[in-house]
Amino acid sequence: MADNLCFLSKDSFILKLPKKSPLVLRMVVLLFVMVCGVYICSICLRQISTGSTSEFLNIGVIQKPCPEPNIEPWEIPFVHYPNPKTFSRVECACNPVRYFAIMSMQRSGSGWFETLLNNHTNISSNGEIFSVKVRRTNVSTIFETLDKVYNLDWLNSASKNECTAAVGLKWMLNQGLMQHHKQIVEYFNTRGVSAIFLFRRNVLRRMISILANSYDREAKPLNGTHKSHVHSSHEAEILASYKPVINATLLIPNIRQVEESTKKALDYFKSTRHIILYYEDVVKNRTKLDEVQEFLKVPKRELSSRQVKIHKGSLSKHIQNWKDVEKALNGTQYESYLYGDYRRGLKLQIVEEIIFDHWDYVACG
Ligand SMILES: *[C@@H]1O[C@H](CO)[C@@H](O)[C@H](O)[C@H]1NC(C)=O
Ligand SMILES: *[C@@H]1O[C@H](CO)[C@@H](O)[C@H](O)[C@H]1NC(C)=O
Ligand SMILES: *[C@@H]1O[C@H](CO)[C@@H](O)[C@H](O)[C@H]1NC(C)=O
Ligand SMILES: *[C@@H]1O[C@H](CO)[C@@H](O)[C@H](O)[C@H]1NC(C)=O
Ligand SMILES: *[C@@H]1O[C@H](CO)[C@@H](O)[C@H](O)[C@H]1NC(C)=O
Ligand SMILES: *[C@@H]1O[C@H](CO)[C@@H](O)[C@H](O)[C@H]1NC(C)=O
Ligand SMILES: *[C@@H]1O[C@H](CO)[C@@H](O)[C@H](O)[C@H]1NC(C)=O
Repeated sequence: MADNLCFLSKDSFILKLPKKSPLVLRMVVLLFVMVCGVYICSICLRQISTGSTSEFLNIGVIQKPCPEPNIEPWEIPFVHYPNPKTFSRVECACNPVRYFAIMSMQRSGSGWFETLLNNHTNISSNGEIFSVKVRRTNVSTIFETLDKVYNLDWLNSASKNECTAAVGLKWMLNQGLMQHHKQIVEYFNTRGVSAIFLFRRNVLRRMISILANSYDREAKPLNGTHKSHVHSSHEAEILASYKPVINATLLIPNIRQVEESTKKALDYFKSTRHIILYYEDVVKNRTKLDEVQEFLKVPKRELSSRQVKIHKGSLSKHIQNWKDVEKALNGTQYESYLYGDYRRGLKLQIVEEIIFDHWDYVACG
């Protein structure tokens, strides 16, 4: 019965309605289509408008609403538009940011170098972040830390906030850098991080700085405080009055070891975009800093630092057993370290004109 009824009613609907009023049916269909169209349109409009009020701004920054910068194709992976969680980049949201890492060894002038970079309005170098051991426990903690730095969320006195055009940190070779070199190179190459190598040519001077610094940590001649960096020539004189004894037997093996580490680091990181600097070259020729600014693609500025050099002048004045050291290096390929940098007229010029420091942060070991 029910089946029959159904069949009948269907039948009547299909057969009879069109015959009776084709015009009415067409009108109904047309109306239905119009109503549907208006409804769909209104939903679309509503979604667009809610999107633009809340998410549009945030997502937009990441997804390039900024005009294409005028750069070479190879540069594209090195240009970033971070969207920090801790603040808004406001008027500088469309200023591209480059990522860098200063890779160096303790007592190689990187502290001084970093104060020079941070004298630039558009550079934020965040210091020796990985001197804190927990941050370099494993590759995940290292990457987490780097992500935060490069997203501009690492806030300290070096932060320039919204108008930063280059952000980075200072990283010593013995702070997980060599140990996890494979993954770090991969991170640098996929995230577009540029490396600035800063080494010291005169390894002997660096050694004195290390010895003196560890002595200072124990003795604290500056009114009981340990100072790795000084800002007055008076303080520098006090610190330099300590003359370390250098173990002459171990001298050459130690120098070789430092050279090996340097070579290894350069080899590990050779596939990254990098620049190699020597402390002595930056000291002698400030145009080296222009090269660095060019490398980081920041506008060129005169950069200055308030730090004062501790060990000025000839090395013979700074080593207790100078004769032994002289003998050990005489006639070897390292002989130039004995007198290097401070020969002839250059000596006076450097001492008087250039204030600098080779007392890096203490984070050996
Ligand atoms: C750079 O150094 C100069 C001279 O010491 C100083 O006047 C200036 O404020 C510094 N700029 C920044 C951004 O630190
Ligand atoms: C890395 O170290 C952190 C902190 O010590 C730990 O929580 C995490 O599980 C470690 N990750 C890996 C992959 O070992
Ligand atoms: C550098 O910073 C200034 C403000 O401190 C800003 O006006 C300028 O756009 C920045 N330059 C770059 C290249 O980001
Ligand atoms: C130690 O402190 C005294 C008094 O505060 C000061 O006069 C002196 O210069 C300080 N010495 C050094 C080496 O800083
Ligand atoms: C130098 O170091 C070697 C090896 O550690 C040691 O045997 C030697 O006694 C040291 N020499 C001096 C003068 O301290
Ligand atoms: C300083 O270095 C630049 C290149 O970085 C070089 O062209 C210039 O001749 C150097 N100046 C001196 C005085 O050595
Ligand atoms: C270096 O060695 C040469 C001979 O090999 C010697 O004549 C000279 O006096 C030595 N110089 C010093 C400073 O010991």
